[in-house]
Amino acid sequence: MAIDVHMIELSDGAEMPAIGQGTWYLGEGRSPRDEEAEALRAGVEAGVMLVDTAEMYGDGEAERLVGEALLGTAGLAAPVPREDLTIVSKVYPWNAGRDRIFDACDATLERLGTDYLDLYLLHWRGNVPLRETVACMEELVEQGKILRWGVSNFDVDDMEELWEVPAGDHCVVNQVLYHLGSRGIEYDLLPWMEERDVACMAYCPLAQAGTLRRGLFTSPAVEEVARRHGATPAQVLLAFCVRDGNVIAIPRTSSASHAVEDDGAAELELDDRDLALLDRAFPAPTRKMPLDMQ
Ligand SMILES: NC(=O)c1ccc[n+]([C@@H]2O[C@H](COP(=O)([O-])OP(=O)(O)OC[C@H]3O[C@@H](n4cnc5c(N)ncnc54)[C@H](OP(=O)(O)O)[C@@H]3O)[C@@H](O)[C@H]2O)c1
Repeated sequence: MAIDVHMIELSDGAEMPAIGQGTWYLGEGRSPRDEEAEALRAGVEAGVMLVDTAEMYGDGEAERLVGEALLGTAGLAAPVPREDLTIVSKVYPWNAGRDRIFDACDATLERLGTDYLDLYLLHWRGNVPLRETVACMEELVEQGKILRWGVSNFDVDDMEELWEVPAGDHCVVNQVLYHLGSRGIEYDLLPWMEERDVACMAYCPLAQAGTLRRGLFTSPAVEEVARRHGATPAQVLLAFCVRDGNVIAIPRTSSASHAVEDDGAAELELDDRDLALLDRAFPAPTRKMPLDMQ
């Protein structure tokens, strides 16, 4: 696994940017649609070429918004060349069996306005046997509809079960909640994944603007590190997530200026002094913690 702040090398040799854009709550009318589309475009113009979405988000509306903003599906903006983008989407657990996953994937592709996904994730574990989901994911790869697949919200025991299934070890990514105020995965899941070359995609890397962990953005440690580098607290939080070269952070924003700011985090390298300060304020786990989820 290459240690590069900007690009993460996956186990199949593909590279993905260390900072991407999330899309949960986008396309649901919480902010004007054109502003959300503009934020996605601003992110891409600033160099954030990875977009994370899911059939769940806004019941498909987030995927539609990504298509409109980046792939020209509504004719509103010139499309970004498809090969420049890394598009990640997720299938509901109850759609992840042989009877539904192929239609679910087709519907996702249609909403996005593309003919392939760079990465397709099982959103969380449900009742469909892992063996069946993996076999279907492998078929989707053979059909060219997805380039690779992964999982989300899997703890170590789930990953171990996955590794027992035929082709289960073709999983390239596990997307899990990770931010400075929620470091449980550092104890066992991250090392387990690093040993097996499974990249981590950190969701809620900004703790949903600090609402998941009060005081995160205004913590003296975060503010001090930000001051030291002429950066913002959000950039420090993102740089913390991607510091070791095996984690991709996918902050979500509906603001064009935040999108540019978030991308700037890829330039910020935290040194030992910064990390010691952050560690003192938000210590690494010393025992197994339940997997944090949203
Ligand atoms: N696999 C899963 O189960 C799962 C679960 C949750 C999330 N996700 C994925 O992960 C993505 C990120 O997680 P999230 O959306 O829950 O939360 P998040 O990225 O931690 O936080 C989003 C919040 O941060 C704010 N923000 C963004 N950039 C900022 C900046 N530079 N300064 C200050 N505030 C900033 C945004 O507000 P503004 O709009 O005002 O910028 C928004 O309120 C999701 O969108 C989704 O794609 C996956």
